[in-house]
Amino acid sequence: MNLQAETLRKIDEVIPHYPVKRSAALPLLHLVQEDQGFISNEAIEWIADRLEIQPINVYELVTFYPMFRQKPIGRRHIKVCRTLSCAIMGGYRTCAEFQKQFGTGLGEVSPDGEVTVEFVECLASCGTAPVVMIDDHLHEKVDAARARELSDKIKGEAKTANR
Ligand code: FES
Repeated sequence: MNLQAETLRKIDEVIPHYPVKRSAALPLLHLVQEDQGFISNEAIEWIADRLEIQPINVYELVTFYPMFRQKPIGRRHIKVCRTLSCAIMGGYRTCAEFQKQFGTGLGEVSPDGEVTVEFVECLASCGTAPVVMIDDHLHEKVDAARARELSDKIKGEAKTANR
């Protein structure tokens, strides 16, 4: 599997922290998903091999925990908070606007491959709700109008990148 050198370094560092290798399965899944964007069957087998356990043991974790994805995501990842403060302040409308702008369903890859829009739980910035994380950047007070602006920006950046 093609993992970045930095991810491999972190994996090597994490495993010895656990008295029993198999206990490192969850941190490894997080690291691999961060690197690859999702957990493929190849990744499941690779992790199982590293931890000397059966692939089914890793697969069970992937299907049990909702934070693990088994499908690739778009090039940009839009995460809209749906916890109380953001929900009250219009987070659902914000999310619907992103979906409309990219013509995509929740959790799907948009037809142009550009984005995946998802709901997430509290992003720890409740005072500036509704809050949205795009890749690693937090955006505050994102109402529907701001969601349109951010969508236009992403579309503009995609065009520049494709030139
Ligand atoms: S409720 Fe949305 S950031 Fe906390």
